[in-house]
Amino acid sequence: MLNFALIGCGRIAKRHAELLGLKQIQGARLAAVCDLVEDKARHIGEKFAVPHFSDMHEMMSRTAVDVAVVLTESGNHARDVIALTKYGKHIVVEKPMALTLPDADAMIHACDSNGVRLFVVKQNRFNRPVVKAREALEAGRFGRLVLGTVRVRWCRPQAYYDQDSWRGTWALDGGVLTNQASHHVDLLEWMMGDVESVYAKASTALAKIEAEDTAVVVLRFVSGALGVIEATTAARPTDLEGSLSLLGEGGSVEIGGFAVNEMKVWRFVNATDVDSEIVAKYSVNPPNVYGFGHQAYYEHVVDCIQNDKRHLVDGLEGRKSLELINAIYESVETGQEVRLRFQPRHCRLGGA
Ligand SMILES: NC(=O)c1ccc[n+]([C@@H]2O[C@H](COP(=O)([O-])OP(=O)(O)OC[C@H]3O[C@@H](n4cnc5c(N)ncnc54)[C@H](O)[C@@H]3O)[C@@H](O)[C@H]2O)c1
Repeated sequence: MLNFALIGCGRIAKRHAELLGLKQIQGARLAAVCDLVEDKARHIGEKFAVPHFSDMHEMMSRTAVDVAVVLTESGNHARDVIALTKYGKHIVVEKPMALTLPDADAMIHACDSNGVRLFVVKQNRFNRPVVKAREALEAGRFGRLVLGTVRVRWCRPQAYYDQDSWRGTWALDGGVLTNQASHHVDLLEWMMGDVESVYAKASTALAKIEAEDTAVVVLRFVSGALGVIEATTAARPTDLEGSLSLLGEGGSVEIGGFAVNEMKVWRFVNATDVDSEIVAKYSVNPPNVYGFGHQAYYEHVVDCIQNDKRHLVDGLEGRKSLELINAIYESVETGQEVRLRFQPRHCRLGGA
């Protein structure tokens, strides 16, 4: 049984606490929680009958912890992960792993030097239709990929941004690309392969925040395929969709719903008997935009630790989509196409 401890008891902590605290993950249990705001820690601690703390160092020293789960503001992930590595316990960090590439590099280095495994939460990779699409990709069913696109059309009213001062800031959050759409950016790159160049435009259309609430990106992949990212939190009056389309010479797949959870199209040139059942079998909309993926994600983490398996999204893999997001912002700021790899010069993400 692995003991997990939460650092940060805000919005997403509730999801983590429920899974770990209600024993929904085999081989895992919630051992302790902490938040700088003691009331938040107490609330979750009492609900799940585990000790609560307002200082993560006190928690790590006084509790038997196997895995520390960092759920603090995105721009503080590097600070908190690096500080935790001295305890020699594995670390799960919510997405995005960091905001700047130097921060991501420092996290990877600190974890490696202390023999700590770093797991970055990208739960959408574990959505059932996404797993199915990835299987088809690995089996070569798409053939040569032609076009990959993602759409995030979500509604985040001003009240969402106003609830915490870090939201929508360059220093601690970024905009829709870094926060809400980072999953979709990751899925697109995971499916389509390395990116050669990006060209992007962004605007702050409806929200009163520093960063963007709306963006469009044109991508060219190393394979020669093209891609499009469309991301907004300015859809009104409600969330519309979070979706992924993959088009190749051998077939097309489209996964939609609110959280890339509903198989909409599954069509292959060399169709098999089971293909006709896939759309009906893999079409379940989750109750919220986080999707079902956190459960499968935790099961994967436990399996990797207990059976010494390679994990799907380690620090280097988390860094990849961060590099892509930095390149997109570089393009927004310069008005130029940005070729990867590159050194961010104008990207404001993670800056003051
Ligand atoms: N995977 C997903 O779908 C998903 C969904 C939502 C949020 N997230 C990510 O989770 C992270 C947190 O988001 P949120 O919405 O829960 O934020 P939040 O503001 O609701 O919670 C963050 C909490 O961390 C606490 N905190 C900060 N530094 C701390 C420290 N050193 N020790 C203890 N507590 C500390 C804060 O007091 C706050 O309560 C962000 O990086 C966000 O991008 C991921």
